[in-house]
Amino acid sequence: MPKPIRSHEDFLIFGSPLIGDDEKRDVLHCLETGWLGTGPKVARFEREFCAYKQAGYAVAVNSCTAALHLSLLAANIGPGDEVITTPLTFCATVNAIIHVGAQPVLADVNPTTFNIDPEQVRAKITQRTKAILPVHFAGRSCDMQALCAIAEEHGLILIEDCAHAIETMYRGKHAGTFGAFGCFSFYVTKNLATGEGGMVLTPEEGHANRIKVLALHGMTKDAWQRFSDEGYKHYQVVECGFKYNMMDLQAALGLHQLRRISVNWQRRQEIWAIYQEAFRDLPLTLPEPPEEGTRHAYHLYTVLVDPQRARITRDAFLAAMTAENIGVGVHYQSIPTHPYYRDRFGWQVEDYPHSFRIGQQTVSLPLSPKLSDRDVTDVTRAVWKVLGD
Ligand SMILES: Cc1ncc(COP(=O)(O)O)c(C=O)c1O
Repeated sequence: MPKPIRSHEDFLIFGSPLIGDDEKRDVLHCLETGWLGTGPKVARFEREFCAYKQAGYAVAVNSCTAALHLSLLAANIGPGDEVITTPLTFCATVNAIIHVGAQPVLADVNPTTFNIDPEQVRAKITQRTKAILPVHFAGRSCDMQALCAIAEEHGLILIEDCAHAIETMYRGKHAGTFGAFGCFSFYVTKNLATGEGGMVLTPEEGHANRIKVLALHGMTKDAWQRFSDEGYKHYQVVECGFKYNMMDLQAALGLHQLRRISVNWQRRQEIWAIYQEAFRDLPLTLPEPPEEGTRHAYHLYTVLVDPQRARITRDAFLAAMTAENIGVGVHYQSIPTHPYYRDRFGWQVEDYPHSFRIGQQTVSLPLSPKLSDRDVTDVTRAVWKVLGD
């Protein structure tokens, strides 16, 4: 057996976050002061994230799933309503729609950008359509001009799933600020990592206030300061909410991650460019360059392994990379491949052919700013070793 590119002990973990000394110090500060829960660091993180994104209001929550769920509730979407989204997404996007009692409706993606195709969205609009929920896949901006035009024409609410899109811009405007709500993820593998975490951006103060109330049991806004040094405050429950609040421990990570957002982005851009050059002559479909007038967040570097061209199946490629001790990911098997959705909604994979094919062929390679030059070289050597002959 030839030696793997890396040793087993040195397995390159996919999506490992880069955590600096500042984060460690600030987390320690939380532990020492005893303020672990929602407090001043969360409030500061909201203000700084809001300023970075040039948004109206920001509410921190404990995941993007929570952010999506609360945005749909704040938009008064529920039973009898339809929400159009993409089949090429993480299950959380679709689950959030189901959780509010609405019907998810899938519109296939553009085979080049992997983003929801505005023409497919148009074709899916009915009397019951209430919202469009696009995902900026891998950090590549959706066609916001077309989606905003459709939303306006049909009076639809736009909720952006920005789990991959913290740094994404479209024609000078930040992803997450185009519609009524922008939902972000700070999960471990994301461009800004707090372990678990999320944020809702909205231009409307009323929506921000409602989301704040819903994120903490439905208790009045003042409940967020219940344990401040100004003394005990009574609270009132005004609706039946959830336990979706972010902790100061998480914000302590987020504040420093946000300060390094550009440096980390530049490093991922650099790695992306190295991959594009290194894999040019391999039988793979590489990502298209970012569209003019957009900023790509470089969240995922995905290649397509077509078994005819590459003479290896995607799953065999995944196994071969793992045998080289390089971590890989799949983003995503299309939503109708999962039995729950197929059984409940009768969706067939063939009805969303682009998403299905991408889901069958896609592989994500490591793209963390934590990667050293040697790590990046190991990834390229492993890919060449698997596909090069
Ligand atoms: C596109 C997309 N939407 C939503 C989510 C859910 O994010 P979270 O894990 O923060 O709930 C993810 C997470 O991977 C995602 O990739």
